[in-house]
Amino acid sequence: MDYSSYLKLETLLSAQKPVSTDKGRPAHDELLFITIHQAYELWFKQILFELDSILASFSQKKVADKEMGTALARLHRINEIMKVLIEQVKILETMTPMDFLEFRDLIYKASGFQSLQFRLLENKLGLRSDDRLNFNSLPYHTQLAAGEAQQAQAAESAPTLFSCLESWLSRTPFLDTPGFQFWEQYKVAANIMFQQDEGFIKNNSELNDAEKKRLFENIQVSRDGFASLFDEKKYEEMKTRGEWRLNYRAVHGALLIQLYREQPIFQLPFRLITEVLTLDSHLTQWRYRHALMVKRMLGSRIGTGGSSGAKYLRESTEQHKIFEDFYKLTTFFIPRTRLPDLPKEFEDKLGFAFETSK
Ligand code: HEM
Repeated sequence: MDYSSYLKLETLLSAQKPVSTDKGRPAHDELLFITIHQAYELWFKQILFELDSILASFSQKKVADKEMGTALARLHRINEIMKVLIEQVKILETMTPMDFLEFRDLIYKASGFQSLQFRLLENKLGLRSDDRLNFNSLPYHTQLAAGEAQQAQAAESAPTLFSCLESWLSRTPFLDTPGFQFWEQYKVAANIMFQQDEGFIKNNSELNDAEKKRLFENIQVSRDGFASLFDEKKYEEMKTRGEWRLNYRAVHGALLIQLYREQPIFQLPFRLITEVLTLDSHLTQWRYRHALMVKRMLGSRIGTGGSSGAKYLRESTEQHKIFEDFYKLTTFFIPRTRLPDLPKEFEDKLGFAFETSK
């Protein structure tokens, strides 16, 4: 076994075949165009491999404690790869629109839109078919080859990172513990916070009446937001309208973990939520960078796959979000100093407790 045979370099390096050369009108930049797409597909493959292993751990009825750290490390790896994917757009931007036009007509109909691995990634993360923009009034999978469409759709109905995370969060222990009813005490703490804030405004002699009125109105908006979160019926109505996606219990779990994240038992779960948010933001950054690059490359031309081009990509950047709820939850954080205190015997259960018997 040597370097070249181990890496199957002969196969790998003979897979870049510019059509412009085949058609007798070689375009210098087509090699870069092929290489960069292939590099993306290789990284997509690696990301899917990591994601599948995370899903295997998280789709269990109970996530084994010792698998948490590994899942977290793999999620972090995916995020590091995503950074490379975002940066790579710059390399493609060294190709000018005029260079691209030299071979664009030859690749007509081929488009990243038909990347099975990209669709698998979106679906395995939890992008729902109903939340997608239609492509020329047709569902995305009609653009894939028959076998590929089946694979992509199968990933929609299998456990996704979103669904796994949601069930895991809804199993968060310590939500109702004797001596500490998180949700009830959180409601009280939020209410006290608003009362104190209103008191500060009322007694602040540096504010005039108009300023006070505006600040009171702002507080009322926050109060209403908290009230609808604390009312399960209202929450379910908002969920039906698509304003939330997580189930109610998962919201409680996610808040508990993030608010009390310095407690040793919540540290890994907190980091996991943070990595998921970072992944969501990386995916959005990639979409945005790609959309900008396409705008620069095509102006308002339609895409080779037949979409409106840059317009479709800009809109899908906004719409194809998966973990929005985790951003929204930040609205409901209250400062540490105003959080309900944890009873001592309860706090002990959240720490790294180990006693040697002498
Ligand atoms: C000159 C470079 C590129 C141009 C002009 C371009 C253009 C486009 C356009 C116009 C679309 C919308 C579908 C269509 O009508 O074809 C699209 C979608 C897509 N492209 Fe590119 N692209 C380029 C490079 C890349 C690269 C390097 C990748 C890496 C894999 C990529 C991946 C994708 C993906 C995954 C989609 C689907 C996005 C979605 O549906 O949200 N593209 N591209």
